Amino acid sequence: MVVTSLHWHVVCLVILCLCLCGFGHALYPAMYVLGASQLDAGNNNYLVTPIKVNFHPYGIDFPGGEATGRFSNGDIITDYLAKHVGLEASPKPYLSPSFNTNKTTEFLKGGLCIAFSKQVDYFNETVEAIAKQIGPRETYKHISKSFIVINIGNNDILVYNGVGFSSIILNGTPPDQYVDQLISSLQPLLKNIYNLGGRKFVIIGAGAQGCLPVLRARQATGDCIEDANYLSRLFNQRLASLMQDLQSSLGGLKYSFFNPYPAFVELNNNRGTNGFTEVKVACCGAGNLNGTIPCNRTTIPCSNRTNHVFWDGVHNTQAVAKVYMNIAFQGSAPYVYPINVKQLSD
Ligand SMILES: *[C@@H]1O[C@H](CO)[C@@H](O)[C@H](O)[C@H]1NC(C)=O
Ligand SMILES: *[C@@H]1O[C@H](CO)[C@@H](O)[C@H](O)[C@H]1NC(C)=O
Ligand SMILES: *[C@@H]1O[C@H](CO)[C@@H](O)[C@H](O)[C@H]1NC(C)=O
Ligand SMILES: *[C@@H]1O[C@H](CO)[C@@H](O)[C@H](O)[C@H]1NC(C)=O
Ligand SMILES: *[C@@H]1O[C@H](CO)[C@@H](O)[C@H](O)[C@H]1NC(C)=O
Repeated sequence: MVVTSLHWHVVCLVILCLCLCGFGHALYPAMYVLGASQLDAGNNNYLVTPIKVNFHPYGIDFPGGEATGRFSNGDIITDYLAKHVGLEASPKPYLSPSFNTNKTTEFLKGGLCIAFSKQVDYFNETVEAIAKQIGPRETYKHISKSFIVINIGNNDILVYNGVGFSSIILNGTPPDQYVDQLISSLQPLLKNIYNLGGRKFVIIGAGAQGCLPVLRARQATGDCIEDANYLSRLFNQRLASLMQDLQSSLGGLKYSFFNPYPAFVELNNNRGTNGFTEVKVACCGAGNLNGTIPCNRTTIPCSNRTNHVFWDGVHNTQAVAKVYMNIAFQGSAPYVYPINVKQLSD
């Protein structure tokens, strides 16, 4: 069970989040997004799942206050990333009916989340569909110039810490072994993406998960849970070295690794940095640190969303997404390395 379930929960669903993908619209260049809820532009709307965010107050700061299915009060990181690299539109959710492809039926049967391996299959199908239209040569040109954006690990770390499907996988697997399993299940999938033409990767690592309101709320002191943070650090280290290995073994592969962990530490340790005076309490939610009862239709969120790091118990505010993607685009180590996204696009 431990091993076979890994592929599935690499990006799997936890209390507030879904693990989904969106695919770019423009043919050249595009942004293909695979990963967790932090990057979901609304696939969850097309899944049969209790985890929905297609209601107010989600999207309260989105144009028109529309709840698009983004796990945020407004834009998410891929919206900002798309703007930075000059794409006209943000990535659309792959499962949206506005896509000609008809992939929805399978999930409408009751799937809760799209495993990362399944997302790679979708990517494969997309590449094949493009190749049918414009031929393999042009397709390769397009894919190899496009950004492959991947955000992974956050949910697995939450799962390990008992948020979500803890009963499925917790068999006393030690943290190092757990992270090793995650990384070794990712490796062949990243290679597949490369084999399909992916060359420019934007990898978004794990945040300081022990500092999410949903976990902090468990401590009487409200302190971060160090075990979860340890797992995040370990995961980021291993993921960064996996990318380094892939770069040296797979010709032409380039990547930017954005590490949200030190970025959060900066906001947390220097309260008020970039205006973020509330680094602990979620804007929308209830209970201890607003992290024990999820944000729901009846919740009246905090009034100032630009000074909050967390929108709900698990997800950042749009304000944080914006700051993070400014750093990913033009910053440097320890936040983004070996090159930033601007250098990746050159
Ligand atoms: C997708 O497939 C389902 C059932 O197989 C069908 O009812 C639906 O009309 C299809 N949608 C599109 C856009 O082709
Ligand atoms: C893509 O899918 C085809 C089947 O349609 C399969 O033969 C091929 O191995 C897949 N490619 C990758 C890189 O997964
Ligand atoms: C909200 O917070 C920001 C950042 O701390 C601050 O600049 C702004 O004045 C606040 N807005 C209101 C209406 O209090
Ligand atoms: C919705 O949130 C409110 C607090 O904003 C809480 O009192 C209520 O219990 C929540 N409802 C559900 C169904 O969780
Ligand atoms: C906690 O959540 C409530 C909504 O349930 C919100 O009104 C309040 O402002 C939040 N507290 C903070 C400090 O953000």
